[in-house]
Amino acid sequence: MQTSRLLIRPLLESDLAAVFACYDHPEVGRYCAPVRWPDMDHAHRWFNRRAGDIAAGFAEQFIILNKASNAVIGTCVLFRIDTTNRNAEIGYALGRDYWGAGYVNEAVTALIDHAFGELNLHRLNAVIDPRNIPSAKALLRLGFRHEGTQRQSYVDAGEFVDSGLYALLSPEWKNSPVGVGHTPS
Ligand SMILES: CC(C)(COP(=O)(O)OP(=O)(O)OC[C@H]1O[C@@H](n2cnc3c(N)ncnc32)[C@H](O)[C@@H]1OP(=O)(O)O)[C@@H](O)C(=O)NCCC(=O)NCCS
Repeated sequence: MQTSRLLIRPLLESDLAAVFACYDHPEVGRYCAPVRWPDMDHAHRWFNRRAGDIAAGFAEQFIILNKASNAVIGTCVLFRIDTTNRNAEIGYALGRDYWGAGYVNEAVTALIDHAFGELNLHRLNAVIDPRNIPSAKALLRLGFRHEGTQRQSYVDAGEFVDSGLYALLSPEWKNSPVGVGHTPS
């Protein structure tokens, strides 16, 4: 997938060192355990688990690159893909240097077009730590609705954490001013 500034392609195991360097800032994994990689072994184990889900058709994992410089900006993913109920969950993370420039908005716009277009999904879920204000703002900016909060729903670093539940439906996206066919290219 391409947008005006970005190339979004499947993540390869050979990309992991560059992604590890991109994520190497304490704020990136603060509210996002899946991208909290203490070392490269951890990154490879994460990749292998994800590769299993991809092979089973349950996930699509992408790397986000700057089209002009080829620099790694972050990653985004569709996971828990459920073709029976036509839904999936989205995830995303940017290197700390790339926050505040609209990159996740641009990348996830293309990801949503793909999910509601080629994959013919109907609903996209996003589950975030409610303390993750930049993520909540990014979802609302994309047209996701906050559907509720699951209180103390999982344990992270020894504390119970709430889950903020967000979702976007295909007809909402298609009728929105930034919907299908509007990916900047
Ligand atoms: C969540 C995260 C991706 C949000 O990144 P972000 O850069 O704030 O998100 P967006 O792409 O929506 O960018 C919006 C910001 O860029 C600014 N911006 C600048 N140029 C822009 C443009 N051309 N288009 C849109 N926004 C632009 C907006 O004003 C906004 O800044 P503000 O929130 O200060 O008003 C980032 O904080 C992150 O990677 N966090 C760590 C990982 C994580 O927590 N992931 C999600 C949890 S699972």
